Amino acid sequence: MRYRLWRIGVFLVASVPPLYWLYCAAFNLLGPDPGKVLVDNLGLGALILLLITLAMTPLQQLTRWGGWIAVRRQLGLWCFAYAVLHLLGYVLFIAGLRLELVLRDLSERPYIIVGALAFVGLLALAVTSNRFSIRKLGRKWKALHRLVYAILLLALLHMLWVVRADLGEWLVYALIGGALLLMRLSAVASALQRAGVLFRENPKKIEI
Ligand code: HEM
Repeated sequence: MRYRLWRIGVFLVASVPPLYWLYCAAFNLLGPDPGKVLVDNLGLGALILLLITLAMTPLQQLTRWGGWIAVRRQLGLWCFAYAVLHLLGYVLFIAGLRLELVLRDLSERPYIIVGALAFVGLLALAVTSNRFSIRKLGRKWKALHRLVYAILLLALLHMLWVVRADLGEWLVYALIGGALLLMRLSAVASALQRAGVLFRENPKKIEI
């Protein structure tokens, strides 16, 4: 299989943070509210992985290196895995396994509703990210997977509700997300491709 080592490297790097946070939780290294820290870290991890996944196509267009696309699906599934752990952490540590509290949050708290919508979107993408679904859905598959941009907006809104006053970090993710959305617009995407071709043909002409 092509890019085997690269794929394994990405797998290892993505699996380290949750294992490290679990280790910290087991040895009481996460402060007075370890449950909340775990939930926050996993939520942020899911958002960062979503942004990294979305960066793979522009990177491929710019560099023409197939390795970016080779790990795109894996990264998307990692994003989903982090989101599942984030949701489990919320049910376990914040709602204390009380189903009535989860249901109340889901009907009354807008940031939980928005997070849940983002999660359902990620679930739809994760279950259709296999070859069988690609073949079965045909053109609809592409349309369905464009949902990823709506999911990104929902995840950013969800985070904005959580951080509220502390906007600095949120702005960084929102700007990166905005830039990635912009790059998907066809005019920008073809400009990127042209820049990639120019750079490969004559790297010295383009000084960065
Ligand atoms: C049913 C689905 C979800 C629920 C119930 C949920 C719940 C929560 C809760 C309770 C918090 C922490 C609030 C606090 O610190 O007081 C949080 C924060 C966060 N969540 Fe979610 N979430 C969901 C889905 C998602 C998804 C799909 C993403 C990203 C793809 C996400 C990303 C985040 C981020 C980035 C934060 C802020 C972390 C920080 O403060 O550093 N969440 N979420």
